[in-house]
Amino acid sequence: MLASAGRRLFTRGFATKAIGVDGFTGAVGNTPLIYLKGLSKRTGAHIYGKAEFQNPGGSVKDRAALGVIRDAEDSGRLKPGGTVVEGTAGNTGIGLAHVCRSRGYKCVIFMPENQSQEKIDLLRMLGAEVHPVPAVAYDNPKNYNHLARDYAESKPNTVWTDQFDNTANAYAHYISTGPEIWEQTKGDLDGFICATGTGGSLAGIGKYLKEKSGGKTQIWLADPPGSVLHSYVTSGGKLNERSGSSITEGIGQGRITKNLGTFVNDLSGAIHIPDEKSIAMVYEMLDSEGLYIGASSALNVVAAVELAQKLGPGKTVATLICDGAYRYQTRLFSKKWLKAKGLDSAVPEHLKKYAVLD
Ligand SMILES: Cc1ncc(COP(=O)(O)O)c(C=O)c1O
Repeated sequence: MLASAGRRLFTRGFATKAIGVDGFTGAVGNTPLIYLKGLSKRTGAHIYGKAEFQNPGGSVKDRAALGVIRDAEDSGRLKPGGTVVEGTAGNTGIGLAHVCRSRGYKCVIFMPENQSQEKIDLLRMLGAEVHPVPAVAYDNPKNYNHLARDYAESKPNTVWTDQFDNTANAYAHYISTGPEIWEQTKGDLDGFICATGTGGSLAGIGKYLKEKSGGKTQIWLADPPGSVLHSYVTSGGKLNERSGSSITEGIGQGRITKNLGTFVNDLSGAIHIPDEKSIAMVYEMLDSEGLYIGASSALNVVAAVELAQKLGPGKTVATLICDGAYRYQTRLFSKKWLKAKGLDSAVPEHLKKYAVLD
């Protein structure tokens, strides 16, 4: 039925409002922008969260995965039956594994061996070949990212997608997430803020919104503990040594990646968010909005509230809800884990009922 409707209804990439979409990759993007009613009422602002957990692979990284694979195809580096290699411990690997299955590529993932068995198992279930390797620093040639690159260089028709420094990642957000947010807010948007891992989403969305609004929409960075980016932005470009850590996953960075580098000088500012606030927001979003979100998303929502307060009453601010809590629930909702991290007192008393796991 759909096939007979003709190819012109379909795009090769991000979802459109067409009546049908072309497979997994056609279903990437076009996610709802959710008005966060409770938070908006409490703050007197208009706060929106883009529901990236509704991408078919479950996270914002489906967009980056599709973007880097399309780029490799379009440049002729990846041919039918080829292999895609990436160094990743999380959502990018899941996105790549899905896109590879749907387009007939082999997917090879290098990751630090200290990652959970669930992550390794999930990638293998999605058909990826997983290489857990010793967890060593980025400047060590045996770091998982460098091993992914070396592997790709040693094999024919094999591409290292290089999510951190391949700007096809940011471009995917420039042509999809940014325009979607602009359309969904009808251009009435005072601020956009999110945390970064590769920098792809912040740089791509930020560039589009800033250009389209003629500079009216301010773009801010949100940053967890253990990342150097907040101090880099607020000090006007001084790069400190990385120290400390965060319970958030997928965000925080020790360097200016090429993706972030395309936009970092255009940021209006940065907000540091401690883990206590992120954890409390995981529970508050569940209680007041019915949304079950991961810790990086909760950090983004805290940051959106703080940015709205900085910008003044009645302002409109958007952020990303990167993924759901499903991938982290044995930690985020475990009393034992919260205590071990010193975060049990961060959960407000009346919300502790949600921490149902021991
Ligand atoms: C859960 C989660 N949140 C946020 C991000 C950051 O996105 P980006 O890499 O576009 O900066 C990632 C990236 O992997 C992620 O997995």
